[in-house]
Amino acid sequence: MYMNDLREKKLRGEKITSITAYDYSFARVADEAGFDIILVGDSLGNVVLGYDTTIPVSIDDMEYHTRAVSRGTRNGLLISDMPFMTYSSTASALKNATILMQAGAQMVKLEGGEWLSETVNQLSKCGIPVCAHLGLTPQSIHKIGGFKIQGSDETSANTILSNAINLEQAGAELLVVECVPSELGKTISERLSIPVIGIGAGAGTDGQILVMYDLLGLSPQIPSFSKNFLRESSSISDALIRFGAAIRDGSFPKAEQTDGS
Ligand code: KIV
Repeated sequence: MYMNDLREKKLRGEKITSITAYDYSFARVADEAGFDIILVGDSLGNVVLGYDTTIPVSIDDMEYHTRAVSRGTRNGLLISDMPFMTYSSTASALKNATILMQAGAQMVKLEGGEWLSETVNQLSKCGIPVCAHLGLTPQSIHKIGGFKIQGSDETSANTILSNAINLEQAGAELLVVECVPSELGKTISERLSIPVIGIGAGAGTDGQILVMYDLLGLSPQIPSFSKNFLRESSSISDALIRFGAAIRDGSFPKAEQTDGS
């Protein structure tokens, strides 16, 4: 899967399916289930390593898991998260993104707004595709003050939208938007040419993503915007196939899985 395939899906109005994976076997099952995007999320800090936040995740952790996931991924676009403070300067971003690309990533994801424009631009010029991440950005959890919906008033919604436009202009090719009102998720998707993938951002985004362990009911606390697909399935593979189908036919997310509604 290449970015131009995903851009064409957006133009055709077809929903983009995404899921996280952290090792070879789950990546293989997700890939065989036909997901467009497989994200080695730094959520592995929570669900695989047992930390309270994603802040302790290191570039070595991300490299190790990216290598494993890349062995199980044949068709999906493999994106890797750049962990906390590994892209605080353009020079460190270039160095650390190189590690993830050489481990098998086809794109890297960074959390943050306009301040990343120069870095996004440089990565892109060097041939490293970038996914931006706005809304609830878990690496900034101590600054944000907890896991809560973002962009619920007009000023903060406008800031998120202008950050999104700015990052697209800087060269970002994909955007993840997390935990924002559904109206904002829809507006951002309509205003950008690049595909926008939502998590807790309503049904109006170009695609959806969930953390694999949440949709398999393995996480101790499943976020309100997620859904346990394993409960109604006969196997893990079946649960992933159902999740992908629910994204495509628009039956996921429903209003109750949308934080902002
Ligand atoms: O780390 C992660 O899994 C993510 C998704 C929640 C989008 O960033």
